[in-house]
Amino acid sequence: MQATLTALVAKAQTDLAAVKTRPEFEAAKARLVGPHGELTALMKQMGAVPKEERPAMGKLINETKTRLQALLDAALRQIEAAEIAGQLGPAVDPTLPAPDPGPGTYHPLTLVREEMCRILRKVGFAVADGPEVETEFYCFDALNTPADHPARDAQDTFYFPDSARFGNVARRNPGEKYLLRTHTSSVQIRTMLQGPPPIRIVSPGRVYRRDTTDASHSANFHQLECLYVDRNVTVRDLKALLDYIFASLLGPGTKTRFRPHYFGYTEPSFEVDLSAAHLPKVNKEWIEIGGCGMVDPTVFETVGYDPTVWSGYAFGMGLERLAMTLYGIDDIRYFYQNDLRFLKQFA
Ligand code: DAH
Repeated sequence: MQATLTALVAKAQTDLAAVKTRPEFEAAKARLVGPHGELTALMKQMGAVPKEERPAMGKLINETKTRLQALLDAALRQIEAAEIAGQLGPAVDPTLPAPDPGPGTYHPLTLVREEMCRILRKVGFAVADGPEVETEFYCFDALNTPADHPARDAQDTFYFPDSARFGNVARRNPGEKYLLRTHTSSVQIRTMLQGPPPIRIVSPGRVYRRDTTDASHSANFHQLECLYVDRNVTVRDLKALLDYIFASLLGPGTKTRFRPHYFGYTEPSFEVDLSAAHLPKVNKEWIEIGGCGMVDPTVFETVGYDPTVWSGYAFGMGLERLAMTLYGIDDIRYFYQNDLRFLKQFA
């Protein structure tokens, strides 16, 4: 009996060394210590052992059991370690240099934004910033956009629930709603409330509208806003500046044209078209690029400027539209997909 028990432990050692997977382990375990296993079979033979030998034999069986259990535990630990190693893959040396080849590139929208800001800085515009969460006052009321204007409709604009609080965006009027800004024109108001004219600012940034995404719409896109306030500013100054910046960006063949339009915060107001026929992949003579006009006296009154002294122009344009024109991109969704095959083309 003693020899058989020793042989069982030796056999368990060789068997378990060959075990690689959990099913193999379970099968080996059942063979060794299971109810129909070899140890159980040996224990059943205890009956045949002479009475005086039984205590010694019982002790021997218990020791064998303990040794088998230790062998099983060790085998299971090895299988678990192999499973984890399989999930982790080959070992990584964190001290090696990154596999990424070289530095990243600028996003095309960043390139266009920076180029426009560079052009505008050269003619005296300073970059101004404003929050993406706005109140109705800055986004609409102060811009002479009445409560029944379609832009204020919940169909067009993302409002926050009344319970939302933004500690860093102060409300002017008690109870007014917070919203995601629908345009960068709100920065005009924030800038003018900070101090007296003259003012010359450019403000690029992200804006939000309830648009369904397609090749030319996105609920979240970017604009570039400009505001100029001084004495004796005229439409001619506005047109000259637009001609200048677009020729700087797109080349000397670029032309602009105004079409009469309505915006609450400018009077007169225009939509601006760009002649882009000379650009690759743009097979239209004119494309619409933004809105503009002479700042409405009502807006000046709201921010405490005397409209008989001060005059100014403002304009806003879509940065995606500009980048699409510049680079010949035909679907706005490319900008947001983070596809390196697209992004690497603008290095
Ligand atoms: N805020 C307008 C828009 O989002 C664009 C615009 C029009 C901006 C006229 C202006 C402006 O500054 O004067 O469609």
